[in-house]
Amino acid sequence: MDFSLLTFLNLLLFSTCSASPPNFVLLFADDLGFGDLGCYGHPSSLTPNLDRLAAAGLRFTDFYCTSPVCSPSRASLLTGRYQTRSGVYPGVLYPGSRGGLPLNETTIAEVLKPLGYATAAVGKWHLGFGANGMFLPTKQGFDQYLGIPYSHDMGPCWNLTCFPPDVKCFGTCDVGTVTVPLLRNEVIKQQPVDFLDLERAYSDFATSFITTSAKKKQPFFLYYPSHHTHYPQYAGPGSAGHSLRGPFGDALLELDTTIGNLLATLEKTGVINNTLVFFTSDNGPELMRMSRGGNAGALKCGKGTTYDGGMREPAIAYWPGTIRPGVTHEMASTLDILPTIAGLVGAKLPQVMLDGVDMTEILVNQGKSKRETMMFYPTDPSEKYGLFALRLGKYKAHFYTRGATHSGTTPDPDCPVFAVLKAHDPPLMFDLEADPSEHYPLPLEGRPDLQAVLERIKNVKEKFEASMVFGESQISKGTDPNLAPCCNPQCSPKPSCCRC
Ligand SMILES: *[C@@H]1O[C@H](CO)[C@@H](O)[C@H](O)[C@H]1NC(C)=O
Ligand SMILES: *[C@@H]1O[C@H](CO)[C@@H](O)[C@H](O)[C@H]1NC(C)=O
Ligand SMILES: *[C@@H]1O[C@H](CO)[C@@H](O)[C@H](O)[C@H]1NC(C)=O
Repeated sequence: MDFSLLTFLNLLLFSTCSASPPNFVLLFADDLGFGDLGCYGHPSSLTPNLDRLAAAGLRFTDFYCTSPVCSPSRASLLTGRYQTRSGVYPGVLYPGSRGGLPLNETTIAEVLKPLGYATAAVGKWHLGFGANGMFLPTKQGFDQYLGIPYSHDMGPCWNLTCFPPDVKCFGTCDVGTVTVPLLRNEVIKQQPVDFLDLERAYSDFATSFITTSAKKKQPFFLYYPSHHTHYPQYAGPGSAGHSLRGPFGDALLELDTTIGNLLATLEKTGVINNTLVFFTSDNGPELMRMSRGGNAGALKCGKGTTYDGGMREPAIAYWPGTIRPGVTHEMASTLDILPTIAGLVGAKLPQVMLDGVDMTEILVNQGKSKRETMMFYPTDPSEKYGLFALRLGKYKAHFYTRGATHSGTTPDPDCPVFAVLKAHDPPLMFDLEADPSEHYPLPLEGRPDLQAVLERIKNVKEKFEASMVFGESQISKGTDPNLAPCCNPQCSPKPSCCRC
């Protein structure tokens, strides 16, 4: 579709649905695999609200995040750029990390602010805390924030209750650091956070944000990155023991219930037909947790790897009256969300190298994707190795493969950490349509057609890598225990005295 037609469509949308530009609700699950939702075929997950979104919205089969671990994936979601550009690599940020998502990166919230949007983040941030909370959401375009600044296993959890009334969390999490705090904007409200009450607090905060914005007729952007279904899996009183799938299922059910509350609020406040709700996850399932971890469905391996199980995610777009129900097999990515939102509201794109493309055509017309490729960087991207894999159309070529601790304990010997780094020349090629499980490498011999595809892949890779300027690594700046959030900064001995 050309630009003028798209602009016309925007005007049509704004004038027929409402006088105001659309609202955006971006839901981001944690360590949720391709096979974890009821609507993606999981037999015992209970996800009635996500299933409802999928049934009345557009469900993606070929949607990718940009990293098999958390912080880099979040950086790409909010900026529309591979994490290598912003410097959010290798691995993830820690409670005392010096770095964070650089403040000169432009987030979706910052794209929308100049158009008068109310913006709020609720949930797990994991893009840095830093000195005096300098990397928190309120410094990145969000008017308001309620949440935990990093993963909920990044603190000792052995004394915390994970299931009511008094079942302790499974495992010990990270001992020797501060307990996980709950922040309201930049202020610590509670440390350690009350896990069992956290989802209620999020739901209340988010529904009140929607209600307030709708009453004021102010367009809004709500970003809800949930800590579910990350380890340690747990659930509060409303969901504990209510799923068929044990702790993981309970955690997922609690997330699904909050999503139901948000949908009910969008309906009640009359803005549901003028709101794009988008759901996806940050990376693949943590298979090392065995039956407590997630499920990648038909895809190979999970979190930490550059096989599809590490980075292909469930994704659902819901916008009644604008997005028709269906399933799309078009390739899309978390990278595309920023350009799509900007395109829908006519916002200015950040004047930087973007890796995302506008996917409005897929959303509103179930049309073709502008995305032909997806790049796969490992958890520790480097200029020396470059891309581990590249998908072009239906073909994926692996230049390097490696297992990961996070994907341990699976019967597939390619997934665990014992599968050490292996270079492939020629690359391992798969046809992801015929073989989504990446089981059967394509023979190149006597197949000039596939050799030609491989040549194209190599050209695309070379061009892309030439365009890649690695940002200064934020995570290599290391940690300083004094930077870890403490509600009682002058207390001693740290970290155990940080309790309020
Ligand atoms: C942000 O600042 C750093 C350091 O000055 C610079 O290297 C980087 O290119 C800047 N990024 C953007 C998106 O402007
Ligand atoms: C947590 O439990 C351990 C083991 O039972 C105990 O030694 C420790 O003092 C407890 N820590 C706190 C902060 O309550
Ligand atoms: C949304 O649109 C549908 C029909 O497209 C209509 O039935 C429904 O009442 C609308 N809801 C609101 C809250 O406007």
